[in-house]
Amino acid sequence: MAIAVEEKRQIFHLQGDNFSYIFHVMENGELGQLYCGKKIHTKSDYKNLATREQRNATTAWRLDKPDFQTDVLKQEYAGFGKGDFRVPAYQIIFTDGSRISDFKYSGYEINQGKNRLHGLPCAFEDSKDDAETLTLFFEDKNAQIKLSLNYSLFPHQNVIVRSAEFINNSSDWAALSMAFSAQLDLPDCRYDFIHFSGSWARERHLVRSRLRPGLQSVGSLRTASSAQHNPFIMLARPDATEDAGEVLGFNLIYSGNFLSQAEVDQFATTRVLVGINPQEFSWTMRQGETFQTPECVISYSASGMNTLSQQLAKFYKKHLVPARFAEKERPILINNWEATYFDFDEAKLLTIAEKAKEVGIELFVLDDGWFGHRDDDTASLGDWFADKKKFPLGLGHLSEQIHKMRLKFGLWFEPEMISIDSDLYKEHPDWVIHVPDRAMTPGRNQFVLDFSRKEVVDYIFTMMSKVIEETKLDYIKWDMNRHITEIFSTALPPVAQQEMPHLYILGVYDLYERLTKKFSEVLFESCASGGGRFDLGMMYYAPQAWTSDDTDAVERIMIQYGTSYGYPQSMMGAHVSAVPNGQTGRVTPLSTRASVAYFGVFGYELDITKLPAEELAEIKEQVSFYKKYRRLFQFGKFYRIESPFIGKNNTDGNIASWQVVSEDKKQAIACRCQILNHANAPYCRIYFKGLLPDQKYTVNGSTEEFYGDELMNAGYFVTQTIDAVEHAKRSADFEAKLFIIQAVD
Ligand code: GLA
Repeated sequence: MAIAVEEKRQIFHLQGDNFSYIFHVMENGELGQLYCGKKIHTKSDYKNLATREQRNATTAWRLDKPDFQTDVLKQEYAGFGKGDFRVPAYQIIFTDGSRISDFKYSGYEINQGKNRLHGLPCAFEDSKDDAETLTLFFEDKNAQIKLSLNYSLFPHQNVIVRSAEFINNSSDWAALSMAFSAQLDLPDCRYDFIHFSGSWARERHLVRSRLRPGLQSVGSLRTASSAQHNPFIMLARPDATEDAGEVLGFNLIYSGNFLSQAEVDQFATTRVLVGINPQEFSWTMRQGETFQTPECVISYSASGMNTLSQQLAKFYKKHLVPARFAEKERPILINNWEATYFDFDEAKLLTIAEKAKEVGIELFVLDDGWFGHRDDDTASLGDWFADKKKFPLGLGHLSEQIHKMRLKFGLWFEPEMISIDSDLYKEHPDWVIHVPDRAMTPGRNQFVLDFSRKEVVDYIFTMMSKVIEETKLDYIKWDMNRHITEIFSTALPPVAQQEMPHLYILGVYDLYERLTKKFSEVLFESCASGGGRFDLGMMYYAPQAWTSDDTDAVERIMIQYGTSYGYPQSMMGAHVSAVPNGQTGRVTPLSTRASVAYFGVFGYELDITKLPAEELAEIKEQVSFYKKYRRLFQFGKFYRIESPFIGKNNTDGNIASWQVVSEDKKQAIACRCQILNHANAPYCRIYFKGLLPDQKYTVNGSTEEFYGDELMNAGYFVTQTIDAVEHAKRSADFEAKLFIIQAVD
């Protein structure tokens, strides 16, 4: 039993392979947190962990219990207004305006596995992986509201998935003004808060800073998880590294407004809260209605961040990504966007597809501009039918030609959007998100459809279905290119307007749910101006995501390195594009662009018809190289070796290296990128990871054989980058060296 219950003392011990999570029911009927950390024994009592002391100037629970002071105690899902002055996990507003809840424990149940949620993306258990779900029940008798706290334990990945559900059994309404998915109170504050922040084209850069008294948080109010802050955060001991030390990871299976927060209080304890951002949120439950929070994933590692990322990757593969794609090798694609932008017709696309086929590419993706009369970004979003001018024979005809070449065919959609210059807007101007009599704020010349309305989602579903059927589509790139302003629905009553951000996301999930069910073989890739909605909610439907609009190899090193902490490489769309790069103007070697992109779901984003013969030949080699090692690149165990983020490994951000290792550890590929070349540089070595210490390997086909322990502990000599200068007379900056490590039989 991975979940042990001490019935008499009401202690719950969730024990993963390497960690323990323990809490108990306190005297006041609420849950107290006892321990979250490296695995410890199960026993019948943890008096030491539950010890409390009376503190001055602190309120007590009752006159006869002066030492029971909630502000001093670690709790599991705290309310507000009864003496705990930290930020609470939830708050309910009642009809009389009061905001005090009093939930008392009433029982628990344990079920094997993990059920899916209805209407929300969630973790699941299809793989008989020993998951167990503990549900604890609470009731506020006075208010007649019930609360369930769900804990699903996935012991082998050291993951707990948490959520809360409120049920209003009273005859009055009650409104939630906040409802986090998880709270975790830790006994000290010796942690670094690590988060992944940036912007468009600069997503998920690692930021690490020491926890200090007060609130530290990242969040979004953009109705998208955002490129600015990702919901994934870590708390790491200050001495924790990639390969040692305690780390806790938190992520939300949700794509809308979120808040991931740590609060260090007066006693130097830490409260973590993860969930829907309370700003711009409220949810009214009428009689009999419920509210289910999204799920929060909590993972623990006692051996550093690589382990944490690896166990998360495994967890997502088994318990979050659609099972039919979880282990399926993803096709190498070519996307026409950077090759043509809006300027194409069938003939031009077919020449790109033909060349792509010649070099071994497997999927042709037609990006923005194929529908309505979209010749630039001012028109036609919402009109999901082929542009007759560009496709006089119809889109079905193009797709037939592509399929005849034995290429798969993919299309770009931006289902949530509408252009004023569109048939859809002429027919349904009220379907745009707006506040009547207020100006609408444009973003990329476009506006957003009110996905809280079922008829809107129904309409888009019908339009997309027709195209998918007509083209026998294999792949969809689902884009979302602006954030939501003037959030309001003309179809909702005033009291429900603050439900709109969550309702909107539920509408997005509804469309995803229906499309992925009806067209289960279609591979979805999510996108939001690049990596602006790179989250676990999306991953549940779309196993891959466009990591960033920035395809410059140097920038991508940081973006992919940062992303790798919380997301597997099989989720990261990574393409080779032309130089000078469209975002940075930088010219990097074709080989470097490919070497960085190999460590993701590989593809091309350039006009392949315009390349000189030698580059075309090089691309052909890259494609066959990737095919040879595709499983390793997409699903191998990912190790970060040297960080491009300054200050961690004496490289000042000039060097980055990472590695993938096969399941049996017999094969590995590492990449070492050097941004600027230096003359007469110091000697350096690369220290590979994750190999079998007693196994002999070769590196890049060397005649010398090396034991795994030598390669990991003594390292492998890295030669200077001088060849390029001497032979090709080109800059030797931006070099990526690949190391193919192969076990010797
Ligand atoms: C976004 C995407 C790009 C491309 C364009 C098309 O910016 O991130 O990859 O699809 O939209 O408009």
